Amino acid sequence: MIKPKTVKDSTITMTELVLPHYTNQLGKLLGGQLMHWIDICAAIASAKHTQHVCVTASVDRIDFIHSINLGDAVTLTASVNRVFNTSMDVGVKVYSESFKKGTRTHTNTAFLTFVSVDNNGKPVKAAEIFPETDEEKRRYEEALQRRENRLKNRTKA
Ligand SMILES: CC(C)(COP(=O)(O)OP(=O)(O)OC[C@H]1O[C@@H](n2cnc3c(N)ncnc32)[C@H](O)[C@@H]1OP(=O)(O)O)[C@@H](O)C(=O)NCCC(=O)NCCS
Repeated sequence: MIKPKTVKDSTITMTELVLPHYTNQLGKLLGGQLMHWIDICAAIASAKHTQHVCVTASVDRIDFIHSINLGDAVTLTASVNRVFNTSMDVGVKVYSESFKKGTRTHTNTAFLTFVSVDNNGKPVKAAEIFPETDEEKRRYEEALQRRENRLKNRTKA
């Protein structure tokens, strides 16, 4: 029996500094670099939840709402929204912070599916998750919708 966990048990926050080698010619953070950080942050949250290695199965959505500037700090928060069987929906929220301007901006939201695997890369059952707050409950419901849409699209292909 795998002990169920709450969302906050595995929520992860990480902060990165936007250095010149992470930017394009306009001094904006490269999308690919941000996607890498999103993937890492989500991988840590899912591994913390399952206590197994978790692999990225799909990137279901990434919204780029605002660009991020050279010199900004970028804070990413990942949490497991819902666990299915071996897979789980993980949400990542990204904020940029300019210490010079004293601003904090919500720049990105991403949803990914991770699968908990054993040492041979074979999917293993993940612990259940219990949403507690209204927001966690909303995300829990939305995660099911995302999975259903994904599965529907998969059978069409
Ligand atoms: C993801 C992976 C482990 C699934 O293995 P599999 O043998 O196809 O497993 P199954 O078909 O039994 O599916 C297992 C789970 O993965 C989910 N899954 C499989 N492919 C998926 C996809 N493309 N998108 C989202 N979820 C997927 C299934 O829905 C299932 O979820 P459930 O157990 O919660 O119902 C396997 O495809 C894999 O290793 N892919 C490469 C992952 C990778 O290299 N990522 C980058 C490095 S981390």
